[in-house]
Amino acid sequence: MKKLSTTGGANAIVTKVSLIAALAGLLFGLDIAYVNGSLELIVKDFGLTTSQSENIAGILLFGAAIGAVFSGWLSRRYGRKKVLLLASLIFALFTFLGVFAPSYTVLLVARFIIGLAVGIASFVAPLYLSEIAPFKIRGRLIAMYQLMITIGILAMFLSNAALLHFGSWRLMMSVIAIPALVMFVGALFLPESPRWLVLVGRPDDAEKVLQRIRTSDEEVEFELNEIKETVKVKGGGWKLLSKSFFRKVIILGILLQALQQFSGMNAFMYYSGQVFKAAGLSNPAIATVVIGLVNMLTTLIAIRYVDKLGRKPILYTGLSILAISCAVVGYLFRINPPGSEMTSVEQWMTLIFSLLFIFGFAVSLGPIVWILCSEIFPLKGRDFGITITTATNWISNTIIGSYTLTWFAHLGVGGTFWMFGAFNLIGFLIVGFITPETKDIPLEELEKNLEKGVPLRKLGMRHVS
Ligand code: BGC
Repeated sequence: MKKLSTTGGANAIVTKVSLIAALAGLLFGLDIAYVNGSLELIVKDFGLTTSQSENIAGILLFGAAIGAVFSGWLSRRYGRKKVLLLASLIFALFTFLGVFAPSYTVLLVARFIIGLAVGIASFVAPLYLSEIAPFKIRGRLIAMYQLMITIGILAMFLSNAALLHFGSWRLMMSVIAIPALVMFVGALFLPESPRWLVLVGRPDDAEKVLQRIRTSDEEVEFELNEIKETVKVKGGGWKLLSKSFFRKVIILGILLQALQQFSGMNAFMYYSGQVFKAAGLSNPAIATVVIGLVNMLTTLIAIRYVDKLGRKPILYTGLSILAISCAVVGYLFRINPPGSEMTSVEQWMTLIFSLLFIFGFAVSLGPIVWILCSEIFPLKGRDFGITITTATNWISNTIIGSYTLTWFAHLGVGGTFWMFGAFNLIGFLIVGFITPETKDIPLEELEKNLEKGVPLRKLGMRHVS
């Protein structure tokens, strides 16, 4: 294979480019985890009610839902690079606004606008990564993005725990400005996505980018032709909705994303401090750091095994763990209503089953729902499908962020976890009856089966007539 003289450092460039784009995942994690540990300080500072404090968490997620809806259009119109640059600029500027917010309302506005950037980045960064990565490591790069989210969450939990004794939520927030600035400066130097350049009729520019990021002329030529072929397939989400096979996969994606959120994971991500305090744990901030660590390490394991073991067996295992841990944590809070104190054995059990819950999520629903949603849609409707399902994720996430404290107050912490447990049981029906196994099957074959009218559950089987 002939080596390109200009592309000696192609691998190094791809690594650099991927790291900068993956910073979007880190910022996503940092921003959503921020409230866990800082919220009580904000409440004290501004004298907020329960629903106002839920708004601090919820408004960012609501912004993300809106950002996700518009990101498909934005990245098609202006290109992936410009949109990533915009998101990183918003992250940096509005983090400063948040840090210096003189009032609750200004803080809400800053969090809403940061949310727009989170939603945009959650769509564009994985898209950009998948378009810039050499085909052999594409899957690994998308997985790396997921891992960056969990690293961001862990980093925020750690930083909040370390800064707790200063008692300043502003200081806690200022930490986010550093990676935001790094990403903004780095994004200035990103090459545009070759696929987008072909999409807007600039194949020569696409070729120039490919020459920088691929190692041989053959690779450049092969990929350029492949891109030209795939962009010929016109996208047409709304029109495709008239086809029942497309409606079916859209509904599947929506149900999977709603299930991921209603499993209750983010009740821990945002409010584990409150849960552990209610259980009487002496150091909720440290327990929260352990949660972040288990989340990150388990995601690492999941990424390693998801292609080997298949999606469905892991989903069944994860859902069983989630349902059982919700039942136990719920029970421990039910027998210890507010005002009574848990014994130390009960406190340990609360912690252990909470960690088991995190393990169950991070090994299954966490990564696999995103993977399935990137696989089940036919090429023509992929952008549309991913936009709808990503928006569903954020809308459901907004509901969890905005109402969990209210549920804790009205249903009790125990009742709330039983409710999440019930959703995880419903998850068995979704996985059992309508989710296909997509391990080891080319996406083109899934698409053919779908168009033939094969039932969703059997989409991943070969040669179904
Ligand atoms: C979910 C997020 C969640 C994170 C936790 C992601 O897959 O979409 O809502 O906070 O996992 O690691």
